[in-house]
Parts: sequence; structure tokens; C-alpha cells
Amino acid sequence: MRFCVAIDGPAAAGKGTIGRAVAARFGFAHLDTGLLYRAVAAKGGDPVAVAEGLQETDLLRDDLRSMAVGQAASRVAAIPQVRAALVAFQRRIARAEGGAVLDGRDIGTVICPQAEVKLYVTASPQVRAHRRWLEVGGDRGQVLAEVIERDQRDMGRAAAPLKAAPDAVLLDTSVLTVDVAIAAAIDVVERRMRELG
Ligand code: DC
Repeated sequence: MRFCVAIDGPAAAGKGTIGRAVAARFGFAHLDTGLLYRAVAAKGGDPVAVAEGLQETDLLRDDLRSMAVGQAASRVAAIPQVRAALVAFQRRIARAEGGAVLDGRDIGTVICPQAEVKLYVTASPQVRAHRRWLEVGGDRGQVLAEVIERDQRDMGRAAAPLKAAPDAVLLDTSVLTVDVAIAAAIDVVERRMRELG
């Protein structure tokens, strides 16, 4: 069975948490595609060459989750050749037998426009910055500024900018608990499965 759940949205909206939970519920594979861009940025050197030679083991580095790597990832992600080099790997997982959940910025629009389910998970910049601040600490104003800067870069770039696919289901997690947001996402997937028989 092939079934792709595409989850897009800005940083710290809850895509990863929802994606992991949906994948676990249905026994699907899960790929956090941000890790690909983070791994390219963290390796340093020529980002296009690094993206072209990226190995799955590069995704296992334990320094990929920092704010600094997130910002650097957002910069390399604006380079069209970097994005192009990472398409095939993502599509292979998206169409894998057994179902898959991919979360990122362009999954429903570019990587898997035929996805059976598309979710656009978002929350206000203030709520997302607060969540990030709880994880990383530091100066609250600085964390909010970085969230807004990353939104602007990811939404404003020419190559595969972050935007909701026209047929995506919008999930605003600003005022939802984690459990309610996960239940809503699972409900969307179950309804679609019933529709497809
Ligand atoms: O989801 P994340 O915060 O780990 O992503 C890091 C950066 O990678 C993000 O700011 C933009 C880029 N990215 C992207 O351009 N396309 C994706 N599908 C996933 C991430």
C-alpha cells in the first residue's frame, strides 16, 4: 500500500511531533526533511557538492537540531541545485511501500503533489518562538527574531517557497494541546483512508 502524508509549515509549528505520531499510529515511515538541509549546512563546504553526495548516515549527526544549524539550513535551502539534489531521496521515501509521512516546507507542493493527505501545520510566530525558547532558552526576543527571520527566508525564496498547497488541510496549533493536534491530524488521515476505500 502506498499512502503519503505530506506535512508542511513553518519552524516550531508542531510538524515533527504530529508527523511522528501519525507515522506511529499507521505504521508508516517518517522522514523529517529538514534534517537533509540541516545535514548539508552542518557539513560545511560547497553546499551543492555536499547535497549531491549526502548519505543517510549524515542525518544521524547529533548536532543538527541547534538554532544556528536551523538558520544555516534555511540559507542553503534557498539554493535551487541543493533542493534538486535532495528530491529523489525524498520521493523514494514518499512512495515507499507501506506508507510514509514526510514533513518539511515543500512536500505537498513540490516533493509529493499527489500525496493522499496534505496538512499545513502552523501557529503564530509568538507561540512558535515560545516553544523554541522552552527548548533552547536564551533571550526570548532573540528567539522570536530568529523565528521571524527564518519564516521570511523560507516563505520569500524563489525556489520552492514555504506555502500551503491549495488542497492542504490547515491545522493551526496556536491554541491546541499536542494531543488534540495529533488527534485532528489522525482524523484527517482516517477520513481520507475511508474515502479511498
Ligand atoms: O524543519 P527544520 O526547521 O528542521 O528545517 C530547517 C530548514 O530547512 C528550514 O528553515 C528550511 C529548510 N527546509 C526546506 O527548505 N524544505 C524542507 N522540505 C525542509 C526544510
